[in-house]
Amino acid sequence: MNKIISIAAGTAVLMLMGGTAFAGDVQKGNQAFREKGCWQCHGFEGQGGVAGPRLANTQLPEDGLIAFVHSTNGPMPPYSAKLISDAQLSDIYAYLLSRPKPADPKTIPLLQR
Ligand code: HEC
Repeated sequence: MNKIISIAAGTAVLMLMGGTAFAGDVQKGNQAFREKGCWQCHGFEGQGGVAGPRLANTQLPEDGLIAFVHSTNGPMPPYSAKLISDAQLSDIYAYLLSRPKPADPKTIPLLQR
């Protein structure tokens, strides 16, 4: 019985460590999103703007977002790893996923006919 409890406790500790070691930090992501100027095209909440598409609640996987930002050669300027680190992009990813989801259009009276 004690063995089971200690295995469970060990697993819980590992899960907690995994959470802090690998997952991005929402607060730091918010800060990096502002400091690195992502907001200028994508909006402060990542809601999208005139120049850049919506990023909040992105469907991209984390590594996809990191690779895109480092290596895009489309309309968005690429940010090399010197300009923004993978860790900072992980934080930004966490920030973007933490944004509230947009309201369902069916719940907005003005949009009903
Ligand atoms: C000068 C304007 C501008 C800035 C600054 C900018 N972006 Fe973009 N971003 C764009 C445009 C335009 C696109 C669409 C380009 C495309 O699809 O190739 C885009 C696309 C993206 C995409 C892909 C979205 C998708 O769903 O395919 C990601 C992710 C992204 N930007 C992240 C960032 C991050 C993170 C930063 C800050 C480090 C940033 N962008 C700064 C203009 C900008």
